[in-house]
Amino acid sequence: MAKFYCTTPIYYVNDRPHIGHAYSTFAADALVTWHRLSGESVFFLTGTDENAQKNSEAAAKRLGVTPAETSRAQVQAYVDEMSAVWQRTWDTLGIRYDRFIRTTEPAHLRGVEQFIAAVQERGDIYKGTYRGWYCVGCEAFVPEGDLVEGKCATHLRVPERIEEENYFFRLAKYRDALLAHIEQHPEFIQPESRRNEIVAYIRDHLADISISRPMRNWGIPFPGDPAQAVYVWFDALGNYLTGVGYGTDAAQFAQWWPADLHLIGKDIIKFHCALWPAMLLSAGIPLPRRVFAHGFFTIDGQKMSKSLGNVVDPVVSAQRYGLDALRFFLFREISFGGDGDFSEARLAERYAAELQHGIGNFAARTIAMVRKYTDGRVPAIGDRNLVGDVWARYADAFDRAQLHEALAIATELVRVGDQLIEQERPWELAKRGETDRLHRVLGELVELLRHLALLHAPFTPATTDRILTALGQEDWRSHAWTELQQWGRRTEGAVLRELPHLFPPLEGVPVRG
Ligand code: MSP
Repeated sequence: MAKFYCTTPIYYVNDRPHIGHAYSTFAADALVTWHRLSGESVFFLTGTDENAQKNSEAAAKRLGVTPAETSRAQVQAYVDEMSAVWQRTWDTLGIRYDRFIRTTEPAHLRGVEQFIAAVQERGDIYKGTYRGWYCVGCEAFVPEGDLVEGKCATHLRVPERIEEENYFFRLAKYRDALLAHIEQHPEFIQPESRRNEIVAYIRDHLADISISRPMRNWGIPFPGDPAQAVYVWFDALGNYLTGVGYGTDAAQFAQWWPADLHLIGKDIIKFHCALWPAMLLSAGIPLPRRVFAHGFFTIDGQKMSKSLGNVVDPVVSAQRYGLDALRFFLFREISFGGDGDFSEARLAERYAAELQHGIGNFAARTIAMVRKYTDGRVPAIGDRNLVGDVWARYADAFDRAQLHEALAIATELVRVGDQLIEQERPWELAKRGETDRLHRVLGELVELLRHLALLHAPFTPATTDRILTALGQEDWRSHAWTELQQWGRRTEGAVLRELPHLFPPLEGVPVRG
């Protein structure tokens, strides 16, 4: 059986999840749902990145003391609490992950130690002196030439000046091997525009990298030298291995590795497409099959930031609009892979036009007509296939991780259904007593609605379940997806149930203007 091992970035716990983080996690959930329904065996990993300096700074800030004054136990208590917030958020948002990894878990620590031992054995770690800048916002060493007026261009803060002895990883040694791998595996980095960016970076800028910092009160002790802590990215990237048993469960690791897809945002592509594969090459571990970087979105045209006060909490949005509506909006509005914008006014517009008056209306009308004209019993469904090549195009979009395309294809069926109703006007057929034709049309509408519901499963799972339950198909998950995709007689003779209001009108939400 084919397997699909998919990961999200693991998130820093120095703050609560916002809509950008939820976007990555929803995307992974949609992709994983598609693969799961396709009958593949799936492992979906997400979690929290806890050994970062920014987390210990956030703990200190919360306690109202300096980082130097906080104890390891205090930082641990803080990350315990915050990690639980993240996990609870994904649970509330219906994310069906298989494992939520925390990088402070003993199993992760063991795996990181084993990994560093393998890299050391390869002769790829040496002691040197690092002189330069460290931005805690990036959790990265910043080349002098990248500073703008002495500040990190992303975080607009003056980085820490560092001059210290630490351990280096021979990253530059892997330049040619990385370039060759990328050339031989064009699918490794997607979208393509990002691949070109990374190739140029590897070719022109790859240099050895410091992978330890002096141990303060936080981080994983460097194996054999506890006065140093492992540089956070060197430990965090390893979560993709330790999350499936590296260092603790060889059988599980053999079952899942290599990862089929690392889903990330474009901000962390260098770490995933240069440092990470080089680390794996050094340790003698096969590389992940694919890294897909999606874009970033702004909020009403502005960068999301605490100081602007425009940070969108995904749980609040889900409460206001409904979880399905939120997920639907994100993948309708933003091309997956490109940048975009999130605006509540647009969300409200799409909600009204495409959910309330689109899917909601079509489903309600279809079911109401069957209940009215055939006492709720689904008539015979003819052979005329009204979904055409929709499933083939949909599968192709998913294969390319083009989530917005897949969803756009799914929504096409609303138009097909609405047109059929307008052309045939079932109420007039009923009035004229054209029963055969009326039954044929009603059967076709029900079958269209069934396909429509299935196609929406990765995006609006609760809506899919509600529609399929009304169609008497509540056991749909126990059927083979390939079988469900056939145009056919599944619902014939079923007695339709009342459909709860799928997308009630929104009250008190902003309207553009
Ligand atoms: N801890 C690292 C990742 C380590 S993975 C081994 C990290 N964490 S993070 O909490 O800062 O999350 C970054 C990720 O959040 C981005 O890569 C992206 O997936 C998501 N996003 C954060 N802001 C976003 C937007 N404004 N828009 C879209 N995605 C956003 O980096």
